[in-house]
Amino acid sequence: MAQTRTSSDSIQPEHPPRNLTLTGGEDSRVQRAWTHWTNLGRPKLIVAPMVDNSELPFRMLCRKYGAQAAYTPMLHSRIFSETEKYRNEEFTTCKEDRPLFVQFCANDPDVLLEAARRVEPYCDYVDINLGCPQRIAKRGNYGAFLMDNLPLVKSLVEKLALNLEVPVSCKIRLFPKLEDTLKYARMLEEAGCLLLAVHGRTRDEKDGSKFRADWKAIKAVKDAVRIPVLANGNIRHMDDVKDCLEATGAEGVLSAETLLENPALFAGFRTAEWVSGCEGDFVDGNLDQADLLIEYLNLCEKYPVPWRIIRSHVHKLLGDWFSLQPHIREDFNKQYKITFEYLYDMVDQLRATGTRIPLYLKCTETEPTDTDTDQYS
Ligand SMILES: Cc1cc2nc3c(=O)[nH]c(=O)nc-3n(C[C@H](O)[C@H](O)[C@H](O)COP(=O)(O)O)c2cc1C
Repeated sequence: MAQTRTSSDSIQPEHPPRNLTLTGGEDSRVQRAWTHWTNLGRPKLIVAPMVDNSELPFRMLCRKYGAQAAYTPMLHSRIFSETEKYRNEEFTTCKEDRPLFVQFCANDPDVLLEAARRVEPYCDYVDINLGCPQRIAKRGNYGAFLMDNLPLVKSLVEKLALNLEVPVSCKIRLFPKLEDTLKYARMLEEAGCLLLAVHGRTRDEKDGSKFRADWKAIKAVKDAVRIPVLANGNIRHMDDVKDCLEATGAEGVLSAETLLENPALFAGFRTAEWVSGCEGDFVDGNLDQADLLIEYLNLCEKYPVPWRIIRSHVHKLLGDWFSLQPHIREDFNKQYKITFEYLYDMVDQLRATGTRIPLYLKCTETEPTDTDTDQYS
C-alpha cells in the first residue's frame, strides 16, 4: 500500500542536532559518500526528477523496466512544511520504492531542514534542486537562480549535512565558464554534499532538443570532486547510457524526457525514432506504449495520484498513437472528468483501429551477455 505522509506518521521537527562538524572530516565524508553509494548497490540507471511526472506509479513502472533508483518530482520545501494536503498529495511512496531521492527546492535553510526531516525516514538522499531554469524558479528564487547566490546554496547544503542522518545530494546545471562550474562543484562537496548530479546544460540552455548536453564538462566535474557524480542529458537509449558513462566517468545516468515516452528505456527498449540511423539490428520487442500505459494505470489504481498527472502521462505515452488517430485524442481532451474505465476503453479503441507502434530491442540487447549485465546492474 502506498504510504501517504500524514501528521500522525510525520517526523517531529525537534530532532537534536547531530554531533557532526564539517571541518577536518573531508576524508571521512568522502568515505561515507562512497560507502552509502555502495550500500545502495551503486545504481547506474536513474529516473530523473520531473515535476508532475516522476511520481510513485511512474517510478514503479520505470523500476520494473530496469531503473535502479529514482528521484521524486521537485517538492516545494516551504509548502511541504506548512501544508498537510500538499504533503499527502505530492509525496507518496512504498517500501519497494527504493533507492529513492526526495528533491526539494528551497531558499531558507531552516525551512528546508524542516521539510527534509519529514521525508528522511523514507528516502536514501534528500536532494536540493539547484537546476530549475523556469520563470517560476526565478520568481521564487530557487533552482538555477541560486547560482547567483552561492553563500545561500552553501548554507542550504551545510544545514542538511549537519542535521540529517540521510545524506544530502544536489542537482546542478553548468555555469557558462567551466572553471566556475568546477569551483561550484568543489564548494558543494566541501559543504557536505555526498552525491552530485550534473545536468550538462547551462541555465539559459532550457530546450533540451536544441542544446546537446556537454558531457565533457560533466567529466571535468567528475575529475574535480571525490564524491559520486551522476550525468544528466541526452540519454535516449542504452547506447547513450554506455557512451555517456564512458565519456564522463560518472557513476550513473539520469534520464527524463525520453523516459516519459518510453519508461522501458533502461530495459533496452527504444522508440522507432532511435532505431533508424542507429547502428545494429533491431527487432519488435513485443512491448508497446499502450501496454506500458495499461501497466501504469494499474499502478495508479494501487497508488492513487492526481488526475492531472495521469493525463500528462497519457499524452506523453500515446503522443504518436494519437497523431495517427486524432479523433481519439480529441475525445480524451474533451473529458472534463476521466475514469480508469474510460482510459482502459480508450486503449481498446486505439487497438481496434489496428494502430500499433512497437518498441524495439537491439538484437544484442535481447540476450545480454554476462559482461553487459555486470556493466549495468
Ligand atoms: C516534465 C519535466 C519535469 C521536470 N522537473 C524537474 C524537477 O522537478 N527537478 C529537476 O531537478 N529537474 C526537472 N526536470 C529536468 C530533468 O530532471 C532533466 O534534468 C532534464 O530534462 C534533462 O534530462 P533529459 O535530457 O534526459 O530530458 C524536468 C524535466 C521534465 C521534462
